[in-house]
Amino acid sequence: MKIFAGSSNPKLAKKIAKQLGIKLGRIELSRFANGEARVRIREKIIKEKAVIVQSFSYPPDEHLIEFFLIADALKRLGAKKIIAVIPWLGYCVQDKVFLPGEPLSAKVIAQIIQSLKIDRLITLDLHNETITGFFDLVFNHLSALPVFINFFKQKQLRINLVISPDAGGIKRAAKLAKGLNLAMTVINKERDLITGKVSILGFNSNLKAKRVLIVDDFISTGGTLIKISHFLKKAGVKKIYAATIHHFYIKGVQEKIDKSPIDKIFVSDTINSPLKLNSKKLKIISVSNLLAKELKNC
Ligand code: R5P
Repeated sequence: MKIFAGSSNPKLAKKIAKQLGIKLGRIELSRFANGEARVRIREKIIKEKAVIVQSFSYPPDEHLIEFFLIADALKRLGAKKIIAVIPWLGYCVQDKVFLPGEPLSAKVIAQIIQSLKIDRLITLDLHNETITGFFDLVFNHLSALPVFINFFKQKQLRINLVISPDAGGIKRAAKLAKGLNLAMTVINKERDLITGKVSILGFNSNLKAKRVLIVDDFISTGGTLIKISHFLKKAGVKKIYAATIHHFYIKGVQEKIDKSPIDKIFVSDTINSPLKLNSKKLKIISVSNLLAKELKNC
């Protein structure tokens, strides 16, 4: 098996390769003068399994095209099987036509991936797992929650309530709460589909002096978490922790979290930060072991 890192998250790819006791495959990634992506694989892979590690993170369209080109190059070099490890499957949030005139973006991406004859796709914590139905290939939808649960157990983080920020996240929060043997509750949140503005409609647990852990699949603008953290603080919560699997690292968002009532945010390394961050509130937990274990079975 040879592992090739796209330019989105070479750090994670390196860690996965290390856990598997192999070196990353040699690949050259650059740009032509007109801005188009240029890919060249410098390995022999005839009849071998080839793994591409690429998150469709910022800038998503560049990372997508690069991924498509790597997959094509591997096929042309005679790879026996192509396994795509896409820790963050970009466009997966556009899983419905929310407003008339919009595309079904998640399906468009699925169809392009499909056309590249990828044999297997491994991803983590999709916003909505029904999108796995858009793909006709072996699809391993993993969750980083067990990694977070182990981490919290080891660190003996004192929490007494797990919170889902919306109804869509209940299953996720319930899993985390079960793993930590804690109670769970949900906040009634609403998002305006046009402005993206988040409003909190209500909550019915007693929050006084509680130490809570909010769990979400991703943090983008930070609007959800920050709004909820202010609400919780007002309601008398003592400690606010947040666990989000994917952090998009949009410019200025971590700084806003640092200034918010959130005491600490735990994220995974599915996305590599393009920014230089120096936040004491941010803790990154690696999913490399989970992905390496999965690849051992491929
Ligand atoms: C919503 O359904 C998602 O699970 C997240 O709660 C949310 O969209 C995060 O985005 P932001 O950080 O922009 O509020």
